[in-house]
Amino acid sequence: MGKIIDGKALSAAVKEEVKAQVPELEAKYGRKPCLCVIIVGENPASQVYVRNKVKAAAYTGMGSELIELPADISEEALLAKIRELNGNPAVDGILVQLPLPKHIDEEKVIDTIAREKDVDGFHPGNVAGLWLGKDCIVPCTPAGIMRMIDSIGLDLKGKRAVVVGRSNIVGKPVAKLLLDRHATVTIAHSRTVDLGSVTREADLLVLAVGKAGLVTGDMVKPGAVVIDVGMNRNAEGKLCGDADYASCEKVASWITPVPGGVGPMTIAMLMKNTIACYLSRMA
Ligand code: GUN
Repeated sequence: MGKIIDGKALSAAVKEEVKAQVPELEAKYGRKPCLCVIIVGENPASQVYVRNKVKAAAYTGMGSELIELPADISEEALLAKIRELNGNPAVDGILVQLPLPKHIDEEKVIDTIAREKDVDGFHPGNVAGLWLGKDCIVPCTPAGIMRMIDSIGLDLKGKRAVVVGRSNIVGKPVAKLLLDRHATVTIAHSRTVDLGSVTREADLLVLAVGKAGLVTGDMVKPGAVVIDVGMNRNAEGKLCGDADYASCEKVASWITPVPGGVGPMTIAMLMKNTIACYLSRMA
């Protein structure tokens, strides 16, 4: 039976690290780090996520601000707000919660956030940095996944890793991070034919497609580690991942729960990234 990788406990430990660091940074550089989170519109899931992000920042003692903008704000007005924050020396991190309303070009928004304040690691400069192996901000969810892998002491050298999902936020960057650990990495996705034949090869399986119960126990190699990034509602409205937890946990050696797995780690790594952005400007 699979052991649980407790994202909540691990996230709490990371937040404690940051909480201890904040007063030291303030003493050294004369001000605290500060994170600004922008939400456009009223997507209920996004509202929960951004509140948790700002709450975590407040917990660590850093400065934080939630900027709530109406769904019908013009693209230009949003870009103007971002430029204002780019130019504000007291702001270290800028996060614009995705997805954005359809009339706003997400790519333009991401490109407008100053690279050195891009706590999400979505800016092309940071993406290039990741793929070229240069110093950069690593997206929060992939960074959190790697921290979870490290917490169980999994050595990926020569192992088979399968990532299901190819988003810019999770699938692609986590594949690169696994490659950096010398895993043999396969990226599968919604159009992969016979997904089970691919996932059954995996010593490490990262699920990031957003389809409830997509991967069942018979698709998991016995003893594999399963990291579930999915955040779905099942037919009963219950939060669940991309793995069918009941059958997968019988086969896996380690598995992350939903909720309480990758989600809290994303927020913890956002705190770390805010500190990294602060230090890139102050140190
Ligand atoms: N929407 C879903 N995940 C994320 C994330 O990590 N950052 C932002 N900005 N939006 C998201």
